[in-house]
Amino acid sequence: MSGWAVVTGASGGLGEGYATELARQGANVLLVARSADKLTALAERLRREFGVEVEAWPCDLTNRGSRAVLVADLMSRNVHTLVNNAGFGTLGEFVDLELSRIQAEVELNVVALTELTHTVLPGMKARGRGAVINIASTGAFQPIPKFSTYAATKAYVLRLSVGLWGELKGTDVRVLAVCPGPTETSFFDVAGDDGVRVRRRTVEQVVASSFKALRKRRPYVVDGFQNAILAQTTRLVPTSLATSLAGWVATH
Ligand SMILES: NC(=O)c1ccc[n+]([C@@H]2O[C@H](COP(=O)([O-])OP(=O)(O)OC[C@H]3O[C@@H](n4cnc5c(N)ncnc54)[C@H](OP(=O)(O)O)[C@@H]3O)[C@@H](O)[C@H]2O)c1
Repeated sequence: MSGWAVVTGASGGLGEGYATELARQGANVLLVARSADKLTALAERLRREFGVEVEAWPCDLTNRGSRAVLVADLMSRNVHTLVNNAGFGTLGEFVDLELSRIQAEVELNVVALTELTHTVLPGMKARGRGAVINIASTGAFQPIPKFSTYAATKAYVLRLSVGLWGELKGTDVRVLAVCPGPTETSFFDVAGDDGVRVRRRTVEQVVASSFKALRKRRPYVVDGFQNAILAQTTRLVPTSLATSLAGWVATH
């Protein structure tokens, strides 16, 4: 496969899963995250196992200067697939959280994702093919008290992606929003949420759901049957009830 797949947040969790699957499919992969050591180790493993080209690109995506350097590189690369996966959430009441943490969450989950998408889509459109996979969340379907900023950022990711899907319908440039529910990664440790309350899906399950939905040209996919039912249910009940329930589930 000529060209490059770019995966953000590739140093672990879902991003490592997407990078591994793309390399397995024969794609050259550019790995982006802050942890240079983890990216280097993953790059070596993927080269060894799949014989593809892999580059590690250590970068703090909340830093606009570092992002500009990455953007300049991506403009000169043939990027056939972008997985906007880097993201985090923070458990806690909005007024109690550091503003800098909230700003970083919005910068990473929303601004960086938007900028990278805007960087690669023109080339994909010109070449007449490509894929952007944006990782949203089941949190995109209703507000979540004590995860308010996170749920709002993921609602944006879902809406932006489905809007772009609509703009590109009829072309071979695909945009997909992936909405995982709780999944076995470092997400909850990073969020400051140590409670293991629900059975979590595996990275492999989420990655498999994503590529299946991409093949079917879906605008978005909710990973897992139970998560899909819950996501649809939020549309059928009043927002006040869905919000209260989501807040309870998130903190019990
Ligand atoms: N796990 C879940 O239950 C779940 C559910 C729904 C949605 N999601 C979404 O899935 C995506 C992946 O998360 P995950 O579950 O795999 O969590 P994770 O294991 O914590 O991975 C997050 C990834 O993002 C990277 N990252 C964080 N801050 C970054 C920054 N400033 N610049 C560049 N990279 C950064 C991390 O790498 P470094 O620390 O090396 O930078 C890591 O590779 C996120 O968008 C998350 O919101 C997760």
